Amino acid sequence: MSRTPTDAPKKLFIKTYGCQMNVYDSERMAESLEGYVTTERAEDADMILLNTCHIREKAAEKVYSELGRMKKLKADKPDLKIGVAGCVAQAEGEEIMRRQPAVDLVVGPQSYHRLPQMEARVRAGHTALDTDFPEEDKFAHLKGRGTQAKRAPAAFLTVQEGCDKFCAFCVVPYTRGAEVSRPADRVLTEAQELVARGVREVTLLGQNVNAYHGGMTLAQLIRELAQIDGLARIRYTTSHPNDMTDDLIAAHADTPALMPYLHLPVQSGSDRILKRMNRSHTAESYLRLIERIREARPDIMMSGDFIVGFPEETEADFQATLDLVAQVRYGYAYSFKYSTRPGTPAAERAQVDSAEADERLQRLQTLITRQQREIQQEMVGRDLHVLVEKVGREPGQMVGKSEYLHAVHINDCTAQIGDLVPVTITEAVTNSLGARLRTGA
Ligand code: 5AD
Ligand code: SF4
Repeated sequence: MSRTPTDAPKKLFIKTYGCQMNVYDSERMAESLEGYVTTERAEDADMILLNTCHIREKAAEKVYSELGRMKKLKADKPDLKIGVAGCVAQAEGEEIMRRQPAVDLVVGPQSYHRLPQMEARVRAGHTALDTDFPEEDKFAHLKGRGTQAKRAPAAFLTVQEGCDKFCAFCVVPYTRGAEVSRPADRVLTEAQELVARGVREVTLLGQNVNAYHGGMTLAQLIRELAQIDGLARIRYTTSHPNDMTDDLIAAHADTPALMPYLHLPVQSGSDRILKRMNRSHTAESYLRLIERIREARPDIMMSGDFIVGFPEETEADFQATLDLVAQVRYGYAYSFKYSTRPGTPAAERAQVDSAEADERLQRLQTLITRQQREIQQEMVGRDLHVLVEKVGREPGQMVGKSEYLHAVHINDCTAQIGDLVPVTITEAVTNSLGARLRTGA
């Protein structure tokens, strides 16, 4: 029987901004919308969802320019529905529909389980807005469709959401709400389902993931996950220095599936600024913590986030940040110019001159890039393992990630996507490593 156009699946285009949690949420939203298949082309879509980020002003503003473009598509296709999800949806709610009347649907991160009903409302010609913080576990209600479908070998898995730390610069406690952990048994079930679908590496996600408390600690959860047959690699992000417990540090020593990579943002190397940021740790306590982590796992690759030009930051404060970066030697570090966020405590304070902040950011990024290159260069000649994720650009080449999260190109590669293979690193090129398969290993 041939299908008629009316029962053909509708097409969903999702554009994801911001953090890995948004990537995870986008996947879950796509799976929850029955009767839709995803498309890579906005022009083909019956429904467009922008999953947005509010962390910095630039990220938030991008949404409105993108909505302006999407609105034009609606002129040719009146049935096209446009939705805004994510942290801008949470923070700006109705304001979005006021600023861009082409928007049909606004859904905050804590209401994604209501998306199917909202979609139906929108199809019936209404608008739908939901930015509540309901009590229920949205993921328990976000039913998956097609959960047998094969997955890419590396997947994200949200285990904790929200934040109670209230760093003075940050919108997350307002957009993602209070800290909530998903129950460990649900996380373990989901991980088993992912493995059954071909996943070999999971990255546990949370805005404050090491504060996880879903019936067990994060360290216990990691040890449980490590028992799952076929799950070769575990990572977690993002962590707060104050929640790095002894047990979690020990897990880095005693759990081989836990990868030697840790994203542990410190934001600044100046105690005065850290205090003003409400970070409740010092540069010294952070450095000592890293020492202890390196005792447990000497080869661990550290990664961090930095903000430059935080209100009242002086040249001396900034110098302390450069000193800290030099001491830690980050394999990766992400640095951002401070962005004033409405409603956060730091927004009220004396702002650093914008050109001065730009100049500091440049200096920090130069140092970070130099460190990253040196560390990449030190990988050459080392025997590592790569989880193969995709076909490379050159013939015979496959691409995957090392245990340290470096992208690795394997030439003359006979391995398949999903294989975890031993390699020798042969070269470091900008932003990736080259390798050959180690045979007989
Ligand atoms: N301005 C600039 N960077 C910020 N971040 C969070 N809030 C702001 C802000 N207002 C950075 C922090 C955080 C990362 C996700 O984004 O470094 O760790
Ligand atoms: Fe952006 Fe933070 Fe929201 Fe992630 S949680 S999308 S980084 S504002």
